Amino acid sequence: ALHQCCDTTLPMVTLLSLCSTAFENRALGSIWFGGERRSPLQMLYDLDQNPSSPLAEVHRQRRDLLRRTCSRLTRRQHLLRPEDLRHVLVDDAHGLLYCYVPKVACTNWKRVLLALSGRGRGDPRAIPAHEAHAPGSLPSLADFSPAEINRRLRAYLTFLFVREPFERLASAYRNKFARPYSEAFQRRYGTRIVRRLRPGARPDALAQGHDVHFAEFLGYLLDPRTRREEPFNEHWERAHTLCHPCRLRYDVVGKFETLAEDAAFVLDLVGESGLSFPAPPRPKAAAVRDQAARLFQDISPFYQRRLFDLYRMDFLLFNYSAPSYLRLR
Ligand SMILES: *[C@@H]1O[C@H](CO)[C@@H](O)[C@H](O)[C@H]1NC(C)=O
Repeated sequence: ALHQCCDTTLPMVTLLSLCSTAFENRALGSIWFGGERRSPLQMLYDLDQNPSSPLAEVHRQRRDLLRRTCSRLTRRQHLLRPEDLRHVLVDDAHGLLYCYVPKVACTNWKRVLLALSGRGRGDPRAIPAHEAHAPGSLPSLADFSPAEINRRLRAYLTFLFVREPFERLASAYRNKFARPYSEAFQRRYGTRIVRRLRPGARPDALAQGHDVHFAEFLGYLLDPRTRREEPFNEHWERAHTLCHPCRLRYDVVGKFETLAEDAAFVLDLVGESGLSFPAPPRPKAAAVRDQAARLFQDISPFYQRRLFDLYRMDFLLFNYSAPSYLRLR
């Protein structure tokens, strides 16, 4: 396994040096097979040359902030292996790479990518969620050879969508533990959490893992044994760990908080502005924050601080400030 690991990581050195060169300096379009149509990456480049679009300016600033924060906070890093890129989905027809972060509209992005390839007669809403999530329904960058990976990283528009880290965490908890229908998660993780963190648990809780408290869920995340056993489940793994934003060059950083606008920005670059992103109406920002605040109010300042440390990179890289309801000092 080691040999294979060395073989596959070597060409990735090239990838690293590529990433540090400025977005503007890359040879554009040399590998684009889309014919007359300009690639999404070229479209973004054009927008950047002509900074009359306020939305393009927002995205330029997000990119700059990400790059600056990365160079400030990350030191020597291990090399990426193809399997580290499992979350990066590939659309060769449109020249797109999308890194999916669960709990950040990823079902709808997968639907949109499938619709772009003609599934559901081009209507994302016609594609059932289980189809969007079916393994292999969209190719992953991890399935390609290093040379093929590098070729795509150079020429394709690369994007991800992120979300305020604690709101994402609260959403994962509600979705996987606090609602009755996530039995698979409750059996797999819930029973483990109850067994480990609830002395004197009742037999039904031990067997079903159906009534995990938020504090217990956080205790599980902060328990060093958890990550020694296996990586975090993708629903609560940090976006930074899933998508390697300091190693790959992301052209667009979309945000859940401005999902509809940011999705339309990407679809414009793809030349598919007729396709409307299936963004459900957003609840008011204040309501979302209150919901998270209510979950965190019973958590001790000690846990709050450690949890903030755990998710710190996601806060910093994507310009989220520490929520005001936290008691960090
Ligand atoms: C970062 O967040 C602050 C506060 O919300 C905002 O004013 C600023 O424009 C953001 N910067 C970037 C680059 O997104």
